[in-house]
Amino acid sequence: MHVPVLLQSTIELLNIKEGDKVVDATLGLAGHSQEIAKILGKTGLLIGLDADASLLAKAKENLKGVPCQTIFINTNFRNLAGALDEQGIEEVSAVLFDLGLNSEHFDSSETACLPLGRGFTFQKDEPLLMTLASEISEETLTAKEIVNTWDEENIADIIYGYGEERLSRRIAHAIVEARKKKEIVTTFDLVEVIKSAMPANKLHGKTHFATKTFQALRITVNDEIGALKEGLAGAWIKLGCGGRVAAISFHSLEARTVKNFFKDKVVSGEGELVNKKAIMPEREEEISNPRSRSAQLRVIQKIK
Ligand SMILES: C[S@@+](CC[C@H](N)C(=O)[O-])C[C@H]1O[C@@H](n2cnc3c(N)ncnc32)[C@H](O)[C@@H]1O
Repeated sequence: MHVPVLLQSTIELLNIKEGDKVVDATLGLAGHSQEIAKILGKTGLLIGLDADASLLAKAKENLKGVPCQTIFINTNFRNLAGALDEQGIEEVSAVLFDLGLNSEHFDSSETACLPLGRGFTFQKDEPLLMTLASEISEETLTAKEIVNTWDEENIADIIYGYGEERLSRRIAHAIVEARKKKEIVTTFDLVEVIKSAMPANKLHGKTHFATKTFQALRITVNDEIGALKEGLAGAWIKLGCGGRVAAISFHSLEARTVKNFFKDKVVSGEGELVNKKAIMPEREEEISNPRSRSAQLRVIQKIK
């Protein structure tokens, strides 16, 4: 089950009022939005975005019967401003980004068009896709394409840059050697290749040895950092004066992107940080919801 992370702090710091228009840019299973909807009341509007159509359909179900009006948009949040324009929405009072994947993506990532799953986790043997898209077209980048066709240096660069994996060169070399013998098709194929590149003392650490490589591939496939920069910029365009943007990040690259965006707004005099230091979960939340462990909540208010 997906438990919303830092729920109370997020709701409190977003400072939502009855009748507001609020965007949940990462609707997921609508855990945060169910609470937001209660505050918005009959006169409020909740606009929920998700790049994953299958998640959006589930969120719709979860939000049935909420008092406020709702609009659901299946799009990447990098299109946030344009998507609101299409709905004739000029200004909103708050935008939430709860970044990364939903636990659904790990538990059951299959969709109607991709019944074998999308391969987000190394714990299940699934096709090596890692895309948030519910169906694949010719243009859809997949992890399989990266590991089987990109050159060794580019693979090493993303594993280092997006996975912060110090063994990136060894892993990239092992990938390129392995694919000469047989195409790397599934998550377990890739796990075996990564394992072959690992020194014995890295195989039984606290964090699984494939974690960083999987993270790097997922970030690349979905252009997560590029999308985040554009999404924050779009949210800022649509935010009314006095409105707030909240972002919950789960790894250092996301955190840095949010921090830098917020800092630029403070320096330019357009924004004011609501919390000077990132808010992290209390110990009890970390224990009851392990996914929350690396979460950091940052909130900014538009003042100009
Ligand atoms: C951590 S979950 C959100 C969970 C949600 N707050 C809840 O409580 O149920 C993140 C969601 O954002 C979606 N997502 C990730 N990147 C996205 C992007 N660039 N554009 C739109 N949706 C995205 C994922 O599909 C996932 O459903």
